[in-house]
Amino acid sequence: MKSILKIISVVIATTVLFPLSAMAEGDIVKGENTFKKKCRLCHTFTKGDKAKIGPNLYGVHNKKAGLFEGYKYSKGIIEADLTWDDATLDAYLLKPRDVVTKGKMIFAGFKKETDRDDVIAYLKTLKD
Ligand code: HEC
Repeated sequence: MKSILKIISVVIATTVLFPLSAMAEGDIVKGENTFKKKCRLCHTFTKGDKAKIGPNLYGVHNKKAGLFEGYKYSKGIIEADLTWDDATLDAYLLKPRDVVTKGKMIFAGFKKETDRDDVIAYLKTLKD
């Protein structure tokens, strides 16, 4: 009887907790591959690297938007006054123009939530 209760509680715990963690945590390896295919054209990602078409993204997670030194950002992104937390990055990678209406990042956006989660998980690794 006791073990049945234990099994039931484990089942409940995993069904309740798993969707939450699955939503928040992307796959870093997949995110790195996606980044290479979709972002590297315009962004560097190593500490100290120069900007390309877009700013270097090292350390961007949880930072304020528009802070990479020497890069000429759009007025739109500065005025939007954003902090790149998970939710803001998610919205930006879904549709950049919805978050920064007069921004200059030309990117169609990821429709798939997993693509966004994976790339965000990868961006989080770009720090000291
Ligand atoms: C065609 C070039 C291009 C592509 C592709 C691109 N970006 Fe950008 N990105 C930019 C530009 C340009 C800016 C500066 C936006 C502005 O000033 O409005 C930017 C800004 C950003 C910022 C804000 C940085 C800061 O310092 O505030 C983030 C985060 C970002 N991009 C992430 C990504 C990710 C992740 C991808 C891949 C999914 C991606 N970008 C793909 C050009 C691009």
